[in-house]
Amino acid sequence: MSATRVLVFAGSARQGSLNQKLAAVAARELELAGAAVTPVDLRALSLPVYDADIEASGMPAGARTLRRLFAEHEALLLVSPEYNGFPTPLLINALDWASRPVAEDGLPSGPAAMSGTVAGLLSASPGAFGGLRSLLFTRQFLQMNLGMLIVPEQFGLGLAENAFDPAGALVDAKAHAAVLKVVQSVLRTAAAVTSPPVA
Ligand SMILES: Cc1cc2nc3c(=O)[nH]c(=O)nc-3n(C[C@H](O)[C@H](O)[C@H](O)COP(=O)(O)O)c2cc1C
Repeated sequence: MSATRVLVFAGSARQGSLNQKLAAVAARELELAGAAVTPVDLRALSLPVYDADIEASGMPAGARTLRRLFAEHEALLLVSPEYNGFPTPLLINALDWASRPVAEDGLPSGPAAMSGTVAGLLSASPGAFGGLRSLLFTRQFLQMNLGMLIVPEQFGLGLAENAFDPAGALVDAKAHAAVLKVVQSVLRTAAAVTSPPVA
């Protein structure tokens, strides 16, 4: 069986992002479990704030890139902070753009590329709740319109400024185990979804 292909991206692009650190922990666990991981830097996609006039003047290359990445991967590990209890504009904007390309050049439309993607959710915050409140909204957003299959396990890393050692590992074994649980659920679910039906 070929390795499950997993996109990993963070909903914060800033240098020193706690969510990027948590994404790196999850990516390492995915790789240890045999997955093929593709990290995606949302900032590098250079997507403007969605505007139909911009779209009418030409689809940004980043939107097509993200659509292609979804078409090429079975799963997504998403690690995002919350801003005022909500997923970040960077994240929402990128996925809104990814939903816009039509089917072309042998690639599916954006919605078709994202539909059926198995997704796991993590968040990190300096606050006590770890950004957990936003994950319900993120779950709804990914599932309701984009058609992703979100695993039930999720984890918000609270007090995240003190959660990593200098090498980037999680200090708290329980926090690490919670990340692992999400990672394993994503891989288990992706394998079940993509395996051929039992005769
Ligand atoms: C506009 C804004 C709103 C925020 N709202 C919340 C919030 O609702 N809950 C929370 O835990 N942290 C909130 N924060 C703090 C972020 O969790 C914190 O900046 C975090 O470090 C961002 O993630 P990053 O380190 O990956 O960039 C907010 C930050 C900003 C800039």
